[in-house]
Amino acid sequence: MKRAFSGVQPSGNIHIGNYLGAFRQFVQLQDVYEGIYCVVDLHAITVPQDPGELREQIREVAAFYLAAGIDPSRSTVFVQSDVPAHTELAWILNCFATFGELSRMTQFKDKSRKGGQESVSAGLFNYPVLMAADILLYQADVVPVGEDQKQHVELTRDLAERINRRFGPLFRLPEPLIPPLGARIMALDNPQAKMSKSAESPSSYISFTDSPDVIRRKIARAVTDSGREVIYDPEAKPAIANLLTIFSGFSGRPVHELEREYRETGYARFKADLAEAVIAGMEPIQRRLAEMEAEPGYLEQVLRQGAERAAAIAESTVRQVKEAVGLGLGRA
Ligand code: TYM
Repeated sequence: MKRAFSGVQPSGNIHIGNYLGAFRQFVQLQDVYEGIYCVVDLHAITVPQDPGELREQIREVAAFYLAAGIDPSRSTVFVQSDVPAHTELAWILNCFATFGELSRMTQFKDKSRKGGQESVSAGLFNYPVLMAADILLYQADVVPVGEDQKQHVELTRDLAERINRRFGPLFRLPEPLIPPLGARIMALDNPQAKMSKSAESPSSYISFTDSPDVIRRKIARAVTDSGREVIYDPEAKPAIANLLTIFSGFSGRPVHELEREYRETGYARFKADLAEAVIAGMEPIQRRLAEMEAEPGYLEQVLRQGAERAAAIAESTVRQVKEAVGLGLGRA
């Protein structure tokens, strides 16, 4: 079976963009790929975190994988910092990544623009290298991610190719797997900005901790475009195109069918039905999250077994890389 690897940061509430862009794919891929899914806590500390909150969010992301439908008897779910091979390979890869290529990563440029390049952590700069280590350790064939992570997967391929050329075939070259619908869900209050966990305004996203009433309110207040026709036109009507994408993602109905139904009904009716579709789609996941909370020990056990399985694969890759690069005394 081919292998899929992906990771999600425990840095804020999981929102519907994460779900449509990433988690939903993970679950669908399970029948075709061996899945390895990681809570990337080492990535989260590239920006300041409160220790207590971070630990809570690690649990939440881990629980979310399972609640969304990842089956731990078929897929591996684990916490990144439980497998030391991630930092070990990241260091080695850092010595092959260039300052220039890391400086060109758009996510670093965006995030460092906000904080100022002088004061952001070196970890934020090296973040894509740690992500490359995550992927290459498991010799992943595909990396299901939203659109914003595509550039990082391409960097991963570049690094893998560079090292393979020099030392022989150590790494499989991964392909990014971007979903055809929902790969870039935009903020509800600004269709030019990506929906983001770290957004300041909670009205910009719908999170899985939101109650039905909060979801109804957020969707009712979501920005729309001028005119009153519900049509899918990302250029002329970016806000409505985003809402149609969300509607399609949660209802399973194709965009053109929704357009036909709501074209003439006006925005209010469209938004009211969209809210109900989102609430209905989120409900089973929210229910399973609550059930898991009532089952102490289950999550810990899944993560312990996951880390053991992951470590066995990851350590074997690191051993081969160290050997090839000439680190240590080599095998006796
Ligand atoms: P993170 O934690 O920001 O996001 C998790 C996943 O959600 C996707 N996503 C979105 N998809 C659609 N619309 C949005 N508005 C939206 N926002 C986020 C992301 O593309 C991602 O798939 N660097 C990664 C985590 C990571 C990783 C990895 C991923 C670390 N190591 C190895 C894959 C493989 C990140 O910060 O994702």
